[in-house]
Amino acid sequence: MTTTTLPTPANLSITPRDRRFGRDAATPRLWHGGRVEATAIYNALSTTFPKGEAFFVESVRAFRDGAPPKLAEEIKGFTTQEAIHSREHDAFNKRAAEAGYNLSKLEAQVEKRLAVTRGKPPVVSLAATMALEHFTAILAHQLLANPRHLEGADRETADLWRWHAVEEIEHKGVAYDTWLHATRTWTRWKRWKLKTRVMLYVTRNFVVDRTGGALELMRQDGVTGLRAWAKLLWYLWIEPGMFRKIAGAWVRYFLPGFHPWDVDDRHLLAAYSSRARDGEPKRKVRRSV
Ligand SMILES: [Fe+2]
Ligand SMILES: [Fe+2]
Repeated sequence: MTTTTLPTPANLSITPRDRRFGRDAATPRLWHGGRVEATAIYNALSTTFPKGEAFFVESVRAFRDGAPPKLAEEIKGFTTQEAIHSREHDAFNKRAAEAGYNLSKLEAQVEKRLAVTRGKPPVVSLAATMALEHFTAILAHQLLANPRHLEGADRETADLWRWHAVEEIEHKGVAYDTWLHATRTWTRWKRWKLKTRVMLYVTRNFVVDRTGGALELMRQDGVTGLRAWAKLLWYLWIEPGMFRKIAGAWVRYFLPGFHPWDVDDRHLLAAYSSRARDGEPKRKVRRSV
């Protein structure tokens, strides 16, 4: 049996910001600087969020009973943030559909993956959520730390992605802390074995599905075959190279004693807040449950 330590910063506040994006005007089809491959990968990612984040909420909630008060409060913040993210990405996906994309194949793939995971014990769903939350947190870090990723993007849509990124960093420890609590009677080895296996499984599906999803959307823009592969792989792995740039942070997950807050990246939240003060004001909302 191991003891549970929760290194999430004691003064961290998980603050849902109830914002709405892109309601006033249509989003351009190639909103990411007119680039087919850049638009495609972000759209492919967005397609996963409405159903995927609802699954995260359900997986974490299954283990909230008996959680310490601080964690219980964080779960509420997490749940509210993810619910609003689902709403905004659903709206974004509808705009992509209005712009002419057919997302049905991508959505079917998400549902297929979720059905497989839901067929396993709830702790596996929690481990999958924890792995995907690590993914979203390290993608979010990279997105905020390096302006190259959203260079040339439609302003309102770039705002949507930055807002989502901020909240992903803010709640990055919640699924992990819920897992530490849920498995507090497990040995370190048993924990490590399950979280590692699930992370490898999730990573394979994440890379294969997002790449496949992006290629499908590029096909709808008339870019196919080797040309599509070359453009997409260059974008993801070389320049700006999001997947390459998160590789080191991904590996950290496997280190014994890893915790998402080993990297304290709250300076990115502070930078976002000072930017936001010049633009649309953020407002707090009531937390769920
Ligand atoms: Fe989210
Ligand atoms: Fe999240």
